[in-house]
Amino acid sequence: MTMWTPRLDPSLRGITEQLVAALAADVDAGTLVPGTQLPTQRELSDRLGIALGTVTRAYAIARKRGFITSTIGRGTFVSSDAGAAADDTTPVDLIQNFVMRDPRDSILRESGHFHFDPSRMAALIDRDQTPAGSPAHREALASWVSRPGFEVHPDHIVITAGTQHAMFIVLATFMKPGEIIAAEQVTYAGIQPIASMLHLELLGLAQDAEGIIPADFDKACAAGARVLYTTPTFHNPTGITMSAARRRDVAAIAKRHDVTILEDDVYGFLAPDPPPPIAAFAPDRTFFCTSTSKSVAAGIRVGVAVCPPAAAARVAAAVRTTIWESPPVMAEMVMQWIRTGVLARIIDAKRTELLARNELAASVLGSSPHSTCAHLWLQLPSRWRPQDFVTTCQERGVLISAADAFAVERATAPNAVRVCLGAARTRERLERGLRVIADVLASTPAGFALT
Ligand SMILES: Cc1ncc(COP(=O)(O)O)c(C=O)c1O
Repeated sequence: MTMWTPRLDPSLRGITEQLVAALAADVDAGTLVPGTQLPTQRELSDRLGIALGTVTRAYAIARKRGFITSTIGRGTFVSSDAGAAADDTTPVDLIQNFVMRDPRDSILRESGHFHFDPSRMAALIDRDQTPAGSPAHREALASWVSRPGFEVHPDHIVITAGTQHAMFIVLATFMKPGEIIAAEQVTYAGIQPIASMLHLELLGLAQDAEGIIPADFDKACAAGARVLYTTPTFHNPTGITMSAARRRDVAAIAKRHDVTILEDDVYGFLAPDPPPPIAAFAPDRTFFCTSTSKSVAAGIRVGVAVCPPAAAARVAAAVRTTIWESPPVMAEMVMQWIRTGVLARIIDAKRTELLARNELAASVLGSSPHSTCAHLWLQLPSRWRPQDFVTTCQERGVLISAADAFAVERATAPNAVRVCLGAARTRERLERGLRVIADVLASTPAGFALT
């Protein structure tokens, strides 16, 4: 029996509805999988301090809606088609930027391929701390991130607890309060709290279809930018992949102005044939960061910072300062998956699924069908403002993000929204969300009047 603790949403009317909604949300999130035995009604009522009758009513509604089945003498179980029942009642999540979270999908099945070797485990849990990560783990990760034209030496790798951690320690190590980071005008929102914590300024750079506009970057360098933070492959949120020529230009400008580059490649694994990283053009000034949080799952947080050779020791020292060492047991698991080809299979499955999802989006919204990007950037017609569009979609059960969330300068945020294609549990559910978006896109906002 599971120790299921429902997360009640007080904005819903009545505890009974809150309980049913919590059940639906956990089925949708994969926390409750078919066949799971639920607590008895008395146990749940005691644990939550609510009336037994309320739990009985909630279980009866959940049974009628198809989430659960009860058998006298055996108990109450999540039903085999609970997922379909949840689809009808929970919002379609197109906000979170991850791929394939269905507990029945290949990722969780593949995770069963981790074999604990007792002698290795003893060494892993007892040995001295190595802040950069063990040589064997760094070697495996070096082979994973290397590609033609970008051969990574294990000595230049520092293992981190994810990309966010890599970004933080690089900036904390090499920047001083008041200094400027240049970044795409709309960018991954996680850079903002880092800049604010380290008292750094962010300066937005314009992009075209090939990525950052070189003249804009040149101007920012002349204005005193010390670091460029960029996501050149499947940029979040616009989905732009910077061309090889543009990467070369950006590297040359950085060199001319002695600017450091923080290259975020967290979505690079999705591109079957990406241009060489900027780090390949400027290895002495680029920190190339990625992790397994997107390529495997958000809870598998093995990050990599490929550092300029002269900087690796200082970044490793920053790992020690912040967390002593990235959890070695998790790195061991990822190392095994790299060596046995499991990671490559997981990535392949994600690309295949995303290609199908992009084709679906193309048929509903007219976007590009051939991408394997995990998100779409949707320009809105001028009658819509991003927040009104997001609110209208939300009222119709679909969650997406407004451009403001990503804007370095909010006042000049583009008139656009981001739609993530990977979070919806099934393609059917994604399609339902996309059709709502298409419908809202074709409509006129409430209160909009032509004058
Ligand atoms: C562009 C980008 N960089 C970094 C991250 C965070 O990566 P991690 O989970 O490895 O810390 C995200 C997460 O959404 C992201 O979109």
